[in-house]
Amino acid sequence: MTEGQKVYEGKAKILYTTEDPEVLLSYFKDDATAFNAQKKGQILDKGRFNCTIATHLFQVLEADGVPTHWLDTPGDREMRVRAVTIIPLEVVVRNFAAGSLCQQTGLPLGTPLDPPLVEFYYKKDELGDPLLTRDRIRALALASDEQIAAITQVAQAVNVSLTAFFQRCQITLVDFKLEFGLDSQQRLLLADEISPDTCRLWDQSQTDPQARILDKDRFRQDLGQVADAYAEVLQRILGQVSPI
Ligand code: TMP
Repeated sequence: MTEGQKVYEGKAKILYTTEDPEVLLSYFKDDATAFNAQKKGQILDKGRFNCTIATHLFQVLEADGVPTHWLDTPGDREMRVRAVTIIPLEVVVRNFAAGSLCQQTGLPLGTPLDPPLVEFYYKKDELGDPLLTRDRIRALALASDEQIAAITQVAQAVNVSLTAFFQRCQITLVDFKLEFGLDSQQRLLLADEISPDTCRLWDQSQTDPQARILDKDRFRQDLGQVADAYAEVLQRILGQVSPI
């Protein structure tokens, strides 16, 4: 399936051309990185888990009216997506305090955030993806005020949809990162992936703060059983959806 030209290789995926210039093939790798690629490794079958998980989550979002780049999933590591120009922002939504928010503010882990935070980070590895302000987004001309308003609204809608979906899986959606792009008609589409690489997911059946982690924090913190956690997320999702 991956017979096209490579157009982009990121840390977790490779994008290939297809016969249709409006469509790209996204190939999900097993490679895992953390802390801006200072930590590198592989998670067995991560590409398969994340491609399947992201496929189901994009379908959940499309059903709830969120436009995404997802088209179909012809292989278990391969997704066909609408070609977009990525807006260089990492949009993070937080329902509970974790990760860099705790490190930077001292908020205790798990503090509920109501309303949820919607934050913008500059997608630029050389700079370590710094936190942005609205004024900095304007100064750098990364997105227009209208685009930021639209992105914020969609990010909040994604949060409502996925929080409810993961609740049915007995998983708490702690936080997640989104990326957006513009297609050839300048339509704003949710892009990249949504998976245990890009979300914090806590198992509601576990109270232990390490045992409950079902996401890439197991890799970041060397907690072990990383692939098992991704497999568990997929199993729970499959219990709530019809097959692809
Ligand atoms: P943070 O607490 O490290 O800022 O991460 C917030 C959320 O964003 C968490 O769910 C992990 C996700 N994330 C990514 O998907 N890519 C990244 O490069 C980073 C730093 C975080």
